[in-house]
Amino acid sequence: MHHLRDMKNRGEKWAMLTAYDQYTAEIFDQAGIPVLLVGDSAANNVFGYDTTLRVTVDELIPLARAVANAVDRSLVVADLPFGSYQASPEQAFHTAVRFMKESGVHAVKLEGGRTVVPMVEKLTQSGIPVMAHIGFTPQSEHSIGGYRVQGRGDQAAGLIDDAVALAEAGAFSLVLEMVPGDVAAEITKRVSIPTIGIGAGRDTDAQVLVWQDMAGLRSGTMPRFVKQYADLRGILTGAATAYAADVANGAFPTDDHTF
Ligand code: KIV
Ligand code: NA
Repeated sequence: MHHLRDMKNRGEKWAMLTAYDQYTAEIFDQAGIPVLLVGDSAANNVFGYDTTLRVTVDELIPLARAVANAVDRSLVVADLPFGSYQASPEQAFHTAVRFMKESGVHAVKLEGGRTVVPMVEKLTQSGIPVMAHIGFTPQSEHSIGGYRVQGRGDQAAGLIDDAVALAEAGAFSLVLEMVPGDVAAEITKRVSIPTIGIGAGRDTDAQVLVWQDMAGLRSGTMPRFVKQYADLRGILTGAATAYAADVANGAFPTDDHTF
């Protein structure tokens, strides 16, 4: 955590990715990604749910365990799922302790502004590092009214106040999702903890993407903030198609593959 703050002070930018299993965690760790997030985006990207709201603590902990087991150097952060921390600081503590004990992650992430300050304080005072998350917060998609940019115009001051309050409460870093670039830049200047942007422009201290978006595994249209660095869906489709064809026409297996 200290190294992330040092990087901010030196002006060095870094990248975070989601990970939900052993091999991706191992690959991203070896690629030098300093922070891996076992996001509740596993709902959409692992479990096939249509919303983040549906993933449970019991579903996310085994994924977090797989990622934590696989890394050597990366810091592993797990999302606290919807409903597992909003009721009280005690509920947040109970859920975070489950993640720390049952999965071995190093830190947890939760969504919200000033309303979650008591939860952030409780966790950080208990020795559990907390990554905060403001702007568009998917766990509140129904009250926000869909995926939309947060912090425009009149909303900017409130978002800045949220960021400052979360940093004062002890959060070690702050995700800014779908926030205007100038507001994200202002927040990044105002807080001493690293800001991690997703759809928040180029002036945050770090960036995060869902790995299946970054590597082109998922189908469908990507949000504007995604840059796709590979076509894994194309590669896997090609491999599966070629394998099926080889089996169908007798090209696999050969004597080389036979005992
Ligand atoms: O769950 C997730 O993937 C996230 C990141 C996009 C920040 O919360
Ligand atoms: Na999330």
